[in-house]
Amino acid sequence: MNSSESNQHVNPNPTPMATQPIKSKFKISAFYTLPLLVLTIAITLGFTRTDFYKVHYLRHSLTSQTLIQAIGSLFSPSKSVFVPSQCVLWMAPFLSGGGYSSEAWSYILSLHSHTKMHSFRLTIEHHGDQESLEFWDGLPQEMKKLAYKLYRTECRINETIVVCHSEPGAWYPPLFQTFPCPPPPFYSAFKSVIGRTMFETDRVNGEHVERCNKMDYVWVPTDFHKSTFVGSGVDPSKVVKIVQPIDVEFFDPAKYEPFDLTSRGKLILGSSSAKKNFVFLSIFKWEFRKGWDVLLKSYLKEFSKDDNVALFLLTNPYHTDRDFGNKIMDFVESSYLGEPVGGFAPIYVIDSHIAQSELPRVYKAANAFVLPSRGEGWGRPLVEAMAMSLPVIATNWSGPTEYLTDDNSYPLPVDRMSEVMEGPFMGHLWAEPCVDELQNLMRRVMNHRDEAMAKGRKAREDMIRRFSPEIVADIVTEQMENILRL
Ligand SMILES: *[C@@H]1O[C@H](CO)[C@@H](O)[C@H](O)[C@H]1NC(C)=O
Ligand SMILES: *[C@@H]1O[C@H](CO)[C@@H](O)[C@H](O)[C@H]1NC(C)=O
Repeated sequence: MNSSESNQHVNPNPTPMATQPIKSKFKISAFYTLPLLVLTIAITLGFTRTDFYKVHYLRHSLTSQTLIQAIGSLFSPSKSVFVPSQCVLWMAPFLSGGGYSSEAWSYILSLHSHTKMHSFRLTIEHHGDQESLEFWDGLPQEMKKLAYKLYRTECRINETIVVCHSEPGAWYPPLFQTFPCPPPPFYSAFKSVIGRTMFETDRVNGEHVERCNKMDYVWVPTDFHKSTFVGSGVDPSKVVKIVQPIDVEFFDPAKYEPFDLTSRGKLILGSSSAKKNFVFLSIFKWEFRKGWDVLLKSYLKEFSKDDNVALFLLTNPYHTDRDFGNKIMDFVESSYLGEPVGGFAPIYVIDSHIAQSELPRVYKAANAFVLPSRGEGWGRPLVEAMAMSLPVIATNWSGPTEYLTDDNSYPLPVDRMSEVMEGPFMGHLWAEPCVDELQNLMRRVMNHRDEAMAKGRKAREDMIRRFSPEIVADIVTEQMENILRL
């Protein structure tokens, strides 16, 4: 370790925000300044729209170290007296939306609200994906303030643990243009560098294994990942399981009235009827991995109009157009799914934007959640549905095996493993969920309501017990403290 580097402060020269791009916490080359500029603009806009006085105040005060601390107290009036010098720098696609983004936010919010953090301070940096001004704009004001506050926290490099929370291709040296993680001066200057990642198939490719092995630790969310990462060649002593938090206060069925799904759903197949005995819900990005083909096949084979069921798909495009109606009709035709005598059971698609704040009401409107995915990292909609006490039917393979049990859900058996046929992970294996079993389970959850509701209640209990923010904040804090003590 070079002492002039270790002596370096993370953010030595704060500059007025409005006039030039923020200098990063670390020395950066011009190559990396564009994302930061966007971040700066996003933050500035966020404040300009909401609180003119504060912007004004910020602009004129950011040059002074002491005033930065004063601003800190503007956002958090109750400051602990003791300020630890050690830091955790969490780098993730905070401003992008999407899986890693929401996962990273859930950790940050958990740590922020449930740790006293007497042992370290928390700071963040955007990394790993394109910023989306729209996403930043849609964030609740409290989260924006928190982002701003954490972003400004200063740390010494030699007393900082860096978490690179993104796909390994984004880690230094990145395979695409993104602010590097760990930042200059890269790996060895920091106290420790942790890669946080996951994967949806049965293995990790060689390039990613190498990147994982450069890290001091690799955090993965499940035992499934521990086994696939180690099996692919990642150093077992580096791999640590850290589960993902779920906001069980926000996803609490007692707090919500059901969303009117038919008001937003487009009827694609079958006919709508006023009488709906049972509503199945699925939420996914439209990609083959999610097993939408398996879901449609099982549902249409098992049910007809006479069952008074409905299937709602809340979906959005993933490298496709949003003409889901035609995709579904083409699939039904090409699979020779004959129309039952009574007519097809109805399928609705909701592809318009549903705000995060409405999401619990969407779950609340369903009787069961179903996702026959071929592989999942964690399966966020599954744990959300479980926190909302819904009975869940989901493929019993990959990440979700961490929390699916016979007591809290309907784990869907796998027929066989199949090869990924396209994309960068061609040749890897993932699971083919069993169509017949899915038919049986969908029928079962509908016909045995008491059993299904009992499983739903158990699901929420398990989510609270294992993944509630305070529990996960403790797990993360303990890991960090162990590293800082080394
Ligand atoms: C980090 O570097 C600073 C300045 O050289 C030094 O005072 C401090 O003790 C170092 N911290 C650790 C944990 O080595
Ligand atoms: C789900 O998979 C686990 C192994 O990952 C197995 O122990 C369990 O029996 C399976 N459950 C069902 C219902 O198939």
